[in-house]
Amino acid sequence: MSERLCALSDLAEGSAIECADPREPEGATLVLLRSGDQVHAYLNVCPHAGRPLNWAPGRFLYAHGQLVCAAHGAAFRPEDGYCIGGPCRGESLRRVAIAIEGDAVHLAESADS
Ligand code: FES
Repeated sequence: MSERLCALSDLAEGSAIECADPREPEGATLVLLRSGDQVHAYLNVCPHAGRPLNWAPGRFLYAHGQLVCAAHGAAFRPEDGYCIGGPCRGESLRRVAIAIEGDAVHLAESADS
């Protein structure tokens, strides 16, 4: 079994949470987004300037179907991480493959997709 990230019940509809990346001992994190019955996971690194997307630990600007980088306002689609506006328009967040089993969200066996 691969590494557990969080409980599915931690992710309310329309919410975004920050999880430690178990592959990165240096404190890098992931952002997990709930959109309907889908959960998406990305490296918490903005393609614009490499900053974390959140404005405070575990706090993201995620509303109206967009995840917005707190540093300079790049806006990303939750379903594919594509930047639809802002300074890195046309680039994408790096998706991390996950698997959901019951109430547990895990890294997928090959989570470097
Ligand atoms: S670092 Fe995210 S928009 Fe600049």
